Amino acid sequence: MSQSNLSTAAQEVATDTILDIDLNVQAQKGPDLRKDHSKSHGLVRGEFRVEDNLPETLKVGIFARPKTYPAWIRPSNAASVEKRGHLKSDLDPDVRALAIKLLQVEGEKVLDDEKETQDFLLINHPIFFVRDAQGFATLTKASVGQANDEELRSLDPTFKVLTEICSKQVANPLLIQYWSTTPYQLGSLSIKFSVKPHQQDTPIALPTSETYLREAVVQHLTEDGKDATFDFLVQLYINDEKTPIEDPMQEWKEEDSPFIKLATIKIPAQKFDFEERKRLDEGLSFMAWHTLPEHAPLGSVNLARKKVYQEIAKARRSNIYHRVEEPQAYSSVLDDPQ
Ligand code: HEM
Repeated sequence: MSQSNLSTAAQEVATDTILDIDLNVQAQKGPDLRKDHSKSHGLVRGEFRVEDNLPETLKVGIFARPKTYPAWIRPSNAASVEKRGHLKSDLDPDVRALAIKLLQVEGEKVLDDEKETQDFLLINHPIFFVRDAQGFATLTKASVGQANDEELRSLDPTFKVLTEICSKQVANPLLIQYWSTTPYQLGSLSIKFSVKPHQQDTPIALPTSETYLREAVVQHLTEDGKDATFDFLVQLYINDEKTPIEDPMQEWKEEDSPFIKLATIKIPAQKFDFEERKRLDEGLSFMAWHTLPEHAPLGSVNLARKKVYQEIAKARRSNIYHRVEEPQAYSSVLDDPQ
């Protein structure tokens, strides 16, 4: 199976570059909000039901036996906070994403901060916009004006993919497909996963509200009282040419590796759009490394995420505690959205 082209040292430098910039941006723009994916369209409860009668080879980790896991599910926009106290508008082009946290998961985890969870993070496109940690570091530098001309040129393919993703019209985050884009273990196999809705999105007339995506989720689950249902699907690694581990910018085509259904995700009709839930949403940390070892993330991009997500979540949580534990002067809190 392919190895990352980055040396261990280059991987570490790239990871630290991303983390340093992220911590800085987070501290300046929203110390207790996520640096990326700051804007949630709702933290909703759901359930993840593992299929009966899976093939023996796929009965691994959480899929070892038919079981229904309770879950928290968070659709979001990928963008950072626009400026202190102001989240970007849903009307702006953006990557849309989904984070899923299964609860009551048995077994030793890779990290020890959460004992009984298994997280899955996805975006609304089959491929990622950088090849490796170095690519993400360059993109992160560019986002704060620190990339030189050569680095900016190297991002041409990245901007092309981002333009493609951002041009997708999304009316309702509960009705679109999401992909892991990066690979994961399934025991001794390697896979990518995807979450596909049973009902398809039908983009309506041009939306006008800055928060129209949250409003669509409220309309669907609360006002119309409808459930949302998705299939949890995986594609199996075939070979380095068709299904590379180290290049998440290359699609694993369905004709080479068709999707196999492993579970059904159901989000029941519910109320979720209230302040206390928003506080829980902001305090939670979803990360690919909240996982059983059987589902461990693979590849350079995922490896970089191990340190970045842990440190960034630690920083925002410590900020939340700091403000209440040792109250700060207004000049440092700056929580006024004006
Ligand atoms: C080197 C690559 C990446 C870096 C540095 C990165 C960075 C981040 C950061 C800093 C956060 C906020 C975490 C928090 O505050 O808890 C985040 C959230 C998120 N990322 Fe990534 N990311 C990367 C790749 C990916 C990939 C490949 C995906 C999926 C295709 C992804 C999907 C998400 C999602 C869905 C969230 C929101 C989680 C939530 O709702 O709390 N990211 N990312």
